[in-house]
Amino acid sequence: MLSFLAGLVTALIIAVVAAAIFFFRCRRKTQIQQGEDVQQLGRLTGELAHEIKNPLSTVKVSLKLIREDLNDIMRENVQCDKQLRRSLKKIDVIGAEVNRVEQILEGFMRYVGKIELQLCDVDINELVGDMTDFFAPTCRDNNITLRQLLADTPMIVRADPDLLKQVILNIFLNAQHAMPNSGELMVKTQFRDKKAAVVISDTGCGIEPDRLPRIFEPYYSSRPGGRGLGLPTAKKIIEAHSGKISVDTEPGKGSSFTIELPLKADN
Ligand SMILES: Nc1ncnc2c1ncn2[C@@H]1O[C@H](COP(=O)(O)OP(=O)(O)O)[C@@H](O)[C@H]1O
Ligand SMILES: [Mg+2]
Repeated sequence: MLSFLAGLVTALIIAVVAAAIFFFRCRRKTQIQQGEDVQQLGRLTGELAHEIKNPLSTVKVSLKLIREDLNDIMRENVQCDKQLRRSLKKIDVIGAEVNRVEQILEGFMRYVGKIELQLCDVDINELVGDMTDFFAPTCRDNNITLRQLLADTPMIVRADPDLLKQVILNIFLNAQHAMPNSGELMVKTQFRDKKAAVVISDTGCGIEPDRLPRIFEPYYSSRPGGRGLGLPTAKKIIEAHSGKISVDTEPGKGSSFTIELPLKADN
């Protein structure tokens, strides 16, 4: 039973990886050809990922039941204790891998999925202020000095506030990872022509020139445990708002990410 489940999980992982590779390959190729094909592929791979989630849930429930059975047997028969403990350990390993596949799938589905914007009037100063308040305790715990310099007047944009918060949080978290011991995180908002700009700067490790072109690529990550979807998702969200995201960096000194969003016409 255990080897069957392990086989099933492996097959699911292979299917997910193959779907992701297929999607991104085809996307690259068709960028020059037809945009419609890309959209269809995005939808298909999204559906495939969704389909894979169902058998994964069955695997999870089955693992839980097997675990309970083994625990019952162990209670009744102390002799086979050692063997059973080994089996339970294997079940935990499979369980952890199933959870990992589930998280990969969720990240993938969020990235390829169509963004539905819930637009409203958003004051960027207020939103950024809320996010710095939210992140302040994390900064304190990590010896990071947090500074904020907001424009004097409200900066109104038409935007989806929850998605913008997600973008800012992704950039904050990256800054935190870039400053593992201590550092400074500076958040500014500025009016630039007909745009609202948010500039988030850190005094972290910076980005080497050979890595720089890759940081907005899906699944590119330079850190252990990184998923490589934070910046691509941020870019996708900002572009869905007709905005732009860019980076300025100096290895060893730090990085500065700038988001620009069109101001509401009568701002
Ligand atoms: N503030 C930063 N300082 C240094 N490197 C960064 C910073 N932000 C992003 N990066 C680089 O970009 C990569 C991709 O970031 P991201 O898409 O958020 O994925 P992840 O955080 O999972 O690695 C990071 O692994 C890192 O190499
Ligand atoms: Mg990240």
